[in-house]
Amino acid sequence: MMQSTTLTWLIGASSGIGEALTDALDKPNHTLLMSARSADKLEQIAASTAKGERVALPLDITDSAQCDGVVAQVKETYGCVDRVVFNAGTCEYMNGDALEQDAIERVLQTNFLAITALTNQVLPLLLESVKQGRTPQLVFVGSSVTYLALPRAAAYGASKAALRYFAESIYNDLIHLGIDVRMVSPGFVKTPLTDKNDFPMPFLLSAEEAAERIASGLRGNRFDIHFPRRLTWLLKGLNALPIRWRFALTTKSSRLHS
Ligand SMILES: NC(=O)c1ccc[n+]([C@@H]2O[C@H](COP(=O)([O-])OP(=O)(O)OC[C@H]3O[C@@H](n4cnc5c(N)ncnc54)[C@H](OP(=O)(O)O)[C@@H]3O)[C@@H](O)[C@H]2O)c1
Repeated sequence: MMQSTTLTWLIGASSGIGEALTDALDKPNHTLLMSARSADKLEQIAASTAKGERVALPLDITDSAQCDGVVAQVKETYGCVDRVVFNAGTCEYMNGDALEQDAIERVLQTNFLAITALTNQVLPLLLESVKQGRTPQLVFVGSSVTYLALPRAAAYGASKAALRYFAESIYNDLIHLGIDVRMVSPGFVKTPLTDKNDFPMPFLLSAEEAAERIASGLRGNRFDIHFPRRLTWLLKGLNALPIRWRFALTTKSSRLHS
């Protein structure tokens, strides 16, 4: 099926950065498919004024039967997709002496395994876009936590580090097929996810600022879209230190440090 409009599928569109992205990505002749578990919230966003079309597609990415159904529905209705943004994510913090295996599995399931499975399912839809002469984007929202291993972030950081490696690895192959893989690594952004944090969040951005930076990064050509740069360059710089020096700094922020 030939398309005259472009189509983005935003997964994790119901709150925070994703909700703000529904505005930042909005433009005429553009269809935005919006997924998340909160169907009411998606319907509310779909009903709000926009330049392009917005369609609510409720989905729990950890439910493989739901994924099968929604991917089939997208294929049947649209035939191809020009951009998939995997923004869905969850976070659970824990101290290193109180690791919770259930929580680790929950976080890895949502932030990594469900996304790799769905990536596999959306690839044919992106390849259809290539056949129509476009360069589709496959976008993963990770975190700047992957630049420096911090205490309490063992589950969250590991899930996002796995996602980064996955994205970088498949980039090497998909670039040859015409698919443009991107990694987004935000610093702290004020959202329902971070509203529960009980520690200082330096250089905190609003969800709208974060969404604008993502949208602008996607219009550019850099693989790694990271912000705010004063935080992300600091983390990258610290990560380049010998590990003994790094630990000398990061162990001090452990809650077990007296
Ligand atoms: N906020 C930050 O400081 C920050 C920093 C770095 C990276 N990030 C990343 O940015 C992304 C967005 O986070 P946020 O801060 O905007 O948090 P948020 O407001 O909690 O948004 C998370 C989004 O993911 C969706 N989601 C969660 N589990 C899902 C599931 N099983 N199936 C489908 N959708 C699911 C949520 O929708 P439902 O609950 O309706 O399903 C929601 O739309 C996440 O990947 C997060 O790790 C955030």
